[in-house]
Amino acid sequence: MTETRKVSEMSSEEIKGEVRKAYSRVAGRKAEEQSDRQASGCCGPETTSSCGPSSSLLDSMGYDTEGLPSSATESFAGCGNPVALASLRAGETVLDLGSGAGLDVFMAARQVGETGRVIGIDMTPAMLEKARMNVEKIGLTNVEFREGDIENLPVDDDSIDVIISNCVINLAPDKAKVFRESFRVLRPGGRLMVSDIVLEVGLPTGFRDEIATYTGCIGGAISEDEYLQHIRDAGFENVEVVSKAGFGYASSAKIAAYKPN
Ligand SMILES: C[S@@+](CC[C@H](N)C(=O)[O-])C[C@H]1O[C@@H](n2cnc3c(N)ncnc32)[C@H](O)[C@@H]1O
Repeated sequence: MTETRKVSEMSSEEIKGEVRKAYSRVAGRKAEEQSDRQASGCCGPETTSSCGPSSSLLDSMGYDTEGLPSSATESFAGCGNPVALASLRAGETVLDLGSGAGLDVFMAARQVGETGRVIGIDMTPAMLEKARMNVEKIGLTNVEFREGDIENLPVDDDSIDVIISNCVINLAPDKAKVFRESFRVLRPGGRLMVSDIVLEVGLPTGFRDEIATYTGCIGGAISEDEYLQHIRDAGFENVEVVSKAGFGYASSAKIAAYKPN
């Protein structure tokens, strides 16, 4: 019998390896495998191999996917719609942390237009491959996907107008570092607009320690207070939860923050 490792006994690199494995499976998902099930965005525990959104779920989240190939939506694993929150303007440079198969990048690219640019960062090669294939299919020229870790962004200082992220930062073992890196790459006055999972109650230790709970975007989640404090500690101001939708022990929160001018 193979012994299942506890998350609390794994190193950060081991945890990231498990996250990569789980999201490689999500990248391999095909639209025709989808059931009627209203899959949760970030995929609940044990569903990472088969999660994916129905088109009505995406509609209800405010996504206009008209004209996009199914390969741009079938591996979506978000828990909100950060682009809808971001009030993007033509010409802005946007960075998506944990861009997956690229849906938020493609939505943002429409809004910033030809004079703007959108960069997606992800650490899972299969997701990057799918995102780049989608770029070819859609024929976009203002987007780019880079392989990297959101705890060490491969992005220049003060070069980004807006950072978006959809259900990813909960998966990072060092969230404080993600927000410090976000602060570094944003230009003064730039904004951080994210959707993510926050916990409403403490989780039972055994459940929290399961890797499927972690890769399902619950086990690595922290409380709203802790989340906002990490953002403030990185130097951001006007940090607020814009809206929150709960599902029992956790909620999907939309959070806004600004780098001072
Ligand atoms: C729940 S999925 C969300 C994907 C996408 N944002 C969406 O809404 O469909 C999480 C994504 O974040 C990526 N990811 C997780 N931790 C990361 C890290 N430390 N650095 C870069 N990417 C990461 C995973 O590879 C995966 O593609």
